[in-house]
Amino acid sequence: MPDPVLQVSDVTAGYVPDLPILHGVSLTAERGRITLIIGPNGAGKSTLIKAIAGLIPVSAGRLTLDGQDVTHIRPDQLAAYGIAYVPQTDNIFRSLTIRQNLDLALRRAGGDAAARRNQLLTQFPALADKQHDRAGTLSGGQRQFLAIAMALARAPRLILMDEPSAGLSPKATAEVLEHARKLTADGVSILLVEQNVSQAMKLADHCYILAEGRNQVDGPAAELIGNKVVGEIYLGGRRMGAA
Ligand SMILES: Nc1ncnc2c1ncn2[C@@H]1O[C@H](COP(=O)(O)OP(=O)(O)OP(=O)(O)O)[C@@H](O)[C@H]1O
Ligand SMILES: [Mg+2]
Repeated sequence: MPDPVLQVSDVTAGYVPDLPILHGVSLTAERGRITLIIGPNGAGKSTLIKAIAGLIPVSAGRLTLDGQDVTHIRPDQLAAYGIAYVPQTDNIFRSLTIRQNLDLALRRAGGDAAARRNQLLTQFPALADKQHDRAGTLSGGQRQFLAIAMALARAPRLILMDEPSAGLSPKATAEVLEHARKLTADGVSILLVEQNVSQAMKLADHCYILAEGRNQVDGPAAELIGNKVVGEIYLGGRRMGAA
C-alpha cells in the first residue's frame, strides 16, 4: 500500500523572481524507499532538492511531509521536521576533525549527544578509526560517509541526497549507495539524485526523470531500466545497456 512521506505537488521554484527553473514538478517519496531523481545536467534536480530544503522560494505548488504543509519551511527548521539534506558539494568541514564535524551536526540534537556520536561512529567504523583526523584527509568515499553520518545525527525520517557519488570511484559509489539502501531498512526514506544512473537504478525503488525543470517519465526503477524508449532518450542509450 502506498505510504507517502513527502509529496511535491506542482511546484514552481527558481533562484530569481519571475524566472522559474522548476515548472510544476510533482513527485512522491514513499516511506522506507529510495526515490531516485535522474535527468541531464541543468534539469533542475538540485534545484528541486533545494526547494524542498527551503533554500530557494517556492512560488507555486505545495510540499507536504506526512500530510503536514512544509512548503515554506526554513532551512534551519528542516531537522526539527525530520528532514536531513546532504548537499551536492561542500557537505563537510574539511579543516575540522571527523569528531568535530559530528558534534556540529549533533549540537541541537538534544538528549545524550555523546551517546549518539558513539552510535554513529559504530555505524561507520572507518570514521571511528579516524575520528581525531581532519575531515580533509579522508578519501572521497569516507567524506560522503561522514556527510551521511552528519545527516543521520538527528534521526531524520527523510534524507535528501544530492549526488552522493559525485567524483567517487565505482567501488566507493557502490559502497555509498549500498549504505543508503541499508538505511531504508530502518524505515528512513531517501530522495536521491544521481548521475550514476545504472548503479542507482538497480538500487532505487521508484525513479523520476526530470528535464528542463519538468517531469518527463516516472515509474518503478526496475521497469524503467528495461524500457527501451526511456533508455534511448533519457538514460544514454547503449551506455545504459553496457553498464
Ligand atoms: N544559484 C543559482 N542561481 C541561478 N541559477 C541557477 C543557480 N543554480 C542553478 N541554476 C540554474 O538552474 C538550472 C538547473 O540547475 P540544477 O543545478 O538544478 O541542475 P541539476 O539537474 O542539478 O544539474 P547537474 O546534473 O549538473 O547537477 C540550470 O539552468 C542552472 O543554470
Ligand atoms: Mg545538481
